Amino acid sequence: MEIVIVANADAAGTVVADIVDHAVRSGATTLGLATGSSPQSVYRELARRHRDEGLTFAGLQAFLLDEYIGLPEGHPESYAQVIRRDLVDHLDLDADRVLGPDGAAADPFATAIAYDEVIVANGPVDVQILGIGANGHIGFNEPTSSLKSRTWVTTLSEQTRRDNARFFESPEDVPRHAITQGLGTICDARYLVLIATGEHKATAIAAAVEGPLAAVCPASVLQMHPHATVVVDSAAASRLRLTDFYKTVADHKLQT
Ligand code: F6R
Repeated sequence: MEIVIVANADAAGTVVADIVDHAVRSGATTLGLATGSSPQSVYRELARRHRDEGLTFAGLQAFLLDEYIGLPEGHPESYAQVIRRDLVDHLDLDADRVLGPDGAAADPFATAIAYDEVIVANGPVDVQILGIGANGHIGFNEPTSSLKSRTWVTTLSEQTRRDNARFFESPEDVPRHAITQGLGTICDARYLVLIATGEHKATAIAAAVEGPLAAVCPASVLQMHPHATVVVDSAAASRLRLTDFYKTVADHKLQT
């Protein structure tokens, strides 16, 4: 796993945007998209490069990591709407080629299985962007989720509901369930890039990067992936022990 430590959220966004930019210009066809606050600096930078530097996303396929269950279609906080506002509206990505699980479907269990099959049929995802929850979740795979899970119906922890209450009018409005790509599904991607900023992510980052591989910290599954990069600002890196080593690696990186 590669650990990149930068000064702030904008710098982290630039590093991740560089990775996506390079992949897209080198022929990547499929992107995996996270929602929430963490990737916003990435998406702003990608939108800028599209606008100012001709970076094109035409023809690309994109898959969302997850979706709340029970929000009516078109709800502004559904992840389908969030990604449209935060990214798709600002690129030449074809909106019909940005897929996510349907959280309003009558049968979420069948929807989860079908979504996994679509990802497998169109995958592997070339670059998967990830955030991390303060409890170590990725997607909505909460602590103790199977490290090999496929896309499934999950119950959100109270911590995650509290953390996400900022997006809703009242904390009770945060859904209790979601469809999420499983950890096994996420790890099918060729390249995992996780971005985390802020002190509130420091404990989760330390557990994911330097703790044991354990379902209690779902993001620790990145330790098993052959190509994973974790991009953190100094606040999110503040509980890491091996920061000197990560800086040494970054300063002496051999280019392929
Ligand atoms: C959202 C997702 C989640 C978030 C995580 C962090 O699609 O997959 O794992 O990345 O909850 O959320 P923020 O970035 O809002 O702190």
